[in-house]
Amino acid sequence: MYKAIIRPLLFQFNPEKAHKITFNLLKALQSTPGGLQMLSLLTSNNNKPVDLMGLKFKNRVGVAAGLDKNAELIKVWKAMGFGFAEIGTITPKGQPGNPKPRLFRLKKDEGLINRMGFNNMGLDAAVNQLKKRPSGYIVGGNIGKNTATPNEEAINDYLTVFNGLYDYVDYLVVNVSCPNITDLKKLQDKDELNQILSALMKEQAAKEQQKPVVLKISPDLNDHQLIDTLQLVSDHHLHGVIATNTSVSREGLTASSQVIKSIGNGGLSGSPIAKRSTEVVSLVRKEMGNDFPIIGVGGIHNAADAKAKMDAGANMLQMYTGFIYHGVSLIKQCLQM
Ligand SMILES: Cc1cc2nc3c(=O)[nH]c(=O)nc-3n(C[C@H](O)[C@H](O)[C@H](O)COP(=O)(O)O)c2cc1C
Repeated sequence: MYKAIIRPLLFQFNPEKAHKITFNLLKALQSTPGGLQMLSLLTSNNNKPVDLMGLKFKNRVGVAAGLDKNAELIKVWKAMGFGFAEIGTITPKGQPGNPKPRLFRLKKDEGLINRMGFNNMGLDAAVNQLKKRPSGYIVGGNIGKNTATPNEEAINDYLTVFNGLYDYVDYLVVNVSCPNITDLKKLQDKDELNQILSALMKEQAAKEQQKPVVLKISPDLNDHQLIDTLQLVSDHHLHGVIATNTSVSREGLTASSQVIKSIGNGGLSGSPIAKRSTEVVSLVRKEMGNDFPIIGVGGIHNAADAKAKMDAGANMLQMYTGFIYHGVSLIKQCLQM
């Protein structure tokens, strides 16, 4: 039904408009009495709970960051059958993001290119939404810095959002790997990342309740850079990694170079990044050993993609672009394999 009816209708609109229409419909469903019950009846899954990082996830397939930046639809994700949801990226202050258009479909490639630029309503708005979150459902909070904050002051932004979200989420994700914020990825450099992780983990150690903190990594780091990054993850005793974010690469696309050029900058997601994301999961597993928690994300569009991530060593999965192309049934497919 999604691919035959809903997707063709939605794909008539530009991608951001389609996202907005879908969000508004889902918000209306969320506030309609019986709406969520109906949704969960339609999408019932064979849930197999997963224990990871001291948390009990409903199942292993979650919503990737960026889909619900302001934590507005957590009850919908739960009813649809996602095992957990990650909200954000949240910045201290709300910000509009980059000028539109900033989200593009590569239909034949089943990919997206986005340069949204951390558009979100800010920390306070996210906390207000999180106060209404359903209990017993795992929610991660993905944290970043405001675009206007220079990298030298980035630590303050990360600390503000970390502390502000801490009591309202189950795990926190340090996002320094988004390609759409000028110079953000420089924070992945050894010295910068060392400072940020050190400050955040010091803060975490002083909390009454210890919550898992994970790092989201880029598929564009070479193996050497990945190993350096993982050394920092180890040194600072982070609890896991999310592999991977979107990519600046344009390799292996069937879209013409003219189309790709006309789209311009942005992070590529979906099928074209599946292979590299899975390679990164493998490398993390090899470097960090069998017990280290890995959430695999990037180009999961069918059960075989999900299996490839699990075979490479992922404990849990997330999806964004595959969900746009294949709809809710993809969750069930990934849980059945
Ligand atoms: C439109 C869009 C916005 C995104 N925004 C964020 C974000 O704010 N923070 C983040 O960590 N990742 C963000 N991502 C990256 C996804 O969480 C995910 O890591 C990436 O898209 C690869 O997964 P996929 O191939 O299933 O989409 C975004 C992705 C897309 C397509």
